[in-house]
Amino acid sequence: MCPPAHFRVSYSINPWMNPDKPVDLALAQAQWEDLRDRYRALGHTVEELAPHPEFPDMVFAANGATVVDGRVLGARFAFAERHGEAAVHARWYRDHGFADVRTPQNVNEGEGDFAVTASWLLAGRGFRSSPLSHAEAQEYFARPVLGLDLVDPRYYHLDTALCVLDAGSGGPGGGAAEVMYYPGAFSAGSRAVLARLFPDALIAGAGDAAAFGLNAVSDGLHVLLPQAAVGLFAPLRERGYEPIGMDLTELLKGGGSVKCVTAELRLG
Ligand code: ARG
Repeated sequence: MCPPAHFRVSYSINPWMNPDKPVDLALAQAQWEDLRDRYRALGHTVEELAPHPEFPDMVFAANGATVVDGRVLGARFAFAERHGEAAVHARWYRDHGFADVRTPQNVNEGEGDFAVTASWLLAGRGFRSSPLSHAEAQEYFARPVLGLDLVDPRYYHLDTALCVLDAGSGGPGGGAAEVMYYPGAFSAGSRAVLARLFPDALIAGAGDAAAFGLNAVSDGLHVLLPQAAVGLFAPLRERGYEPIGMDLTELLKGGGSVKCVTAELRLG
């Protein structure tokens, strides 16, 4: 996670960002600390990446890389405003003992568009990550990559529309992985693909999606999600998860929430 010390909305690269709307930096910092402390209270280790004054979106740490089995695929950002973040993330991994850190050839915005199950990578395209990055990730991680087409600009990254709740066993047929998603974010074909892969998925409605309810992090038991996504709490409980509502409204002004600010270190 990267503290929002330099967070601001000075440009707009997604429909949620309005540079005319003021950001309360102290509140952003407090909300971010709440999330970090909640992870720690649940027993998770949180590493902090030093914020950089030139990169106001760096708080959205999930975009900086994808880590699977301890192997790191770096990011290549779509917009010039964020280009420089990729090298800062790659340096952090190299400095922290990750031996395999690949500088990607194709545009990919890390876990913004790559969701990881034990069997597959689900990969978004349409607004940010290049379809070519899917083949690159498949070759590098040696896992099947399933491409999904995003069609609604409000859900410009896969992680704004889909969340892996349970990564599954890694067995054939997806190993019973469980996801929740908002169908309206996907093309008709991709909706059909998702229905085929995950017939028992938790389907989110438009209101919970707009509250960024899919931008959640699950450890397989606890699901941390924006507290405003009220419609997701009961269905999550019914499935045996413990939903934990977080308030990250200041960061939503940048177009991100719980998942966007959390890069997961899958050490394997
Ligand atoms: N302002 C950032 C951008 O548009 C937000 C990124 C959100 N991150 C995410 N994983 N969806 O690039």
